[in-house]
Amino acid sequence: MPDQPPPNLRIREVAWGDFEGLVDTYWLLYEERETNPEIGITLFGSRPSHADEAQWFARTFERVLSGASIMRVAEVDRHVVGNCLVNRVGATADSEEAHVGDLGILVHRDFRGRGIGSALMRATLAACRGRFDVVRLSVFSANAGARRLYERLGFVPYGHLPGAVRRGGRYLDVDLMRLDLRPPHANG
Ligand SMILES: CC(C)(COP(=O)(O)OP(=O)(O)OC[C@H]1O[C@@H](n2cnc3c(N)ncnc32)[C@H](O)[C@@H]1OP(=O)(O)O)[C@@H](O)C(=O)NCCC(=O)NCCS
Repeated sequence: MPDQPPPNLRIREVAWGDFEGLVDTYWLLYEERETNPEIGITLFGSRPSHADEAQWFARTFERVLSGASIMRVAEVDRHVVGNCLVNRVGATADSEEAHVGDLGILVHRDFRGRGIGSALMRATLAACRGRFDVVRLSVFSANAGARRLYERLGFVPYGHLPGAVRRGGRYLDVDLMRLDLRPPHANG
């Protein structure tokens, strides 16, 4: 089990000023991949530019404002050290897939294993209730820590995609997981 979260941890909605903190945390993954080729998150071949990231953040922030996405960030001593983002799968609010959310999470490498990821997920999933009926995610099959985290929060596996990720010359498998947020009488 992870340690107790730091006392100065704050989980909150994303703000426009979070851009640099989010990008710094994300860019570090490209360094991590050099030393840990198993790093459990899907990346691009090379690190995206600052301009690419600005475009991504502007689009994401607009989606949060319009209700198409939910994003929570973890802040320690006023520094953003992680985020959890759920994107509506359906392209529009009246899509037949608008009730499905796709979740991704990232914690800064220096802050992992202290319960921040768990706290982020709990807050994000609380915000998903009433907005999404189903939340899905994909996790590298080798990422046992992340899988345990998701299972503890109620996610169940529904599939396995061998060779879903091609990194360098290697193929990596991915597990698909889902969390059903429908009220019991609505299931089936
Ligand atoms: C997966 C991740 C979001 C969890 O956040 P966290 O703050 O470390 O989570 P917690 O401290 O609440 O612990 C949850 C689990 O993460 C695992 N974990 C802890 N440190 C970790 C690390 N350095 N790297 C990967 N997983 C780690 C722990 O094993 C823990 O499970 P356990 O207590 O059953 O052993 C975070 O480790 C991370 O960002 N990893 C790299 C990116 C990634 O794998 N994202 C998930 C994509 S599906």
